Amino acid sequence: MSASILKAGTFKHITCRNNIYPKSTLQRFPVPDDFVFWSAEYVNYSPPIYTAPHINGQPWADPDIGCVDFQPKWNQLDGAVNRVSFNGIYKIENGLPINPIGRTGLSGRGLLGRWGPNHAADPVVTRWKRNADGSVSINSDTQKKMLQMVAIQRHDNNMWAIPGGMVDPGEKITATLKREFMEEALDSFENQKVIEDFFAKGNEIYKGYVDDFRNTDNAWMETVAYNFHDDSGAQVGKLALSAGDDAANVKWLDIDSTIKLHANHIDIIKEVIKRLNAYW
Ligand code: BGC
Repeated sequence: MSASILKAGTFKHITCRNNIYPKSTLQRFPVPDDFVFWSAEYVNYSPPIYTAPHINGQPWADPDIGCVDFQPKWNQLDGAVNRVSFNGIYKIENGLPINPIGRTGLSGRGLLGRWGPNHAADPVVTRWKRNADGSVSINSDTQKKMLQMVAIQRHDNNMWAIPGGMVDPGEKITATLKREFMEEALDSFENQKVIEDFFAKGNEIYKGYVDDFRNTDNAWMETVAYNFHDDSGAQVGKLALSAGDDAANVKWLDIDSTIKLHANHIDIIKEVIKRLNAYW
């Protein structure tokens, strides 16, 4: 069963509103809480249009809407490109896909490659925190076991995050989860066998919209998150971590209610905590 944390019509995104758009000097058009949902009338709403110049022509990016040879098939698998949203059917207005959660104060694609949903996958790799003698650390107030996760520090906003990444066209989610973890958190291929076995057993935790700081009215992030838990600490829990090119740092992060993570990764982690009945 997959938890649906950020539901359209209930959840109001925060990270992609009322700030300067990342890697630009562009101020988003103000979107107060009461005007997030498209169902609320906002007569003066006129967001600036922005697509970061460097994404044009990138192999991972769509052409601009209106280009003659760009005939996207919305809400379906378009060749190898997955334009299906986990939130159901999204609307198309004036040729543009519409953010299923609501207004962001910016139209265009911003920094995102795809119009509509941009799909990522997030491996939440966990182990129990251990004391020097190898026993599992228990919180004395709650008697609950303490959990650690592999976290990377992102280059773009310096925040700690799940070591996820974008799903390549045609790639299976299970392959993305493993590939991204290896690229961002592990010292290459030495441990292939351990990795293969470990990533063969995961639990789906979340799939859906991500409140990402790059989202716009016409392009947004979605993810599928899986938990891979090393209960004994003898599998991935034992391997040396090493930050890949996409990450500034990597570590086993102690999880509790004080940690701050990129986008809505904390909501994903809370689901893992619930499932493993760990200390929070
Ligand atoms: C990251 C994922 C994240 C997604 C949405 C991607 O850049 O690699 O970990 O869930 O963005 O924020």
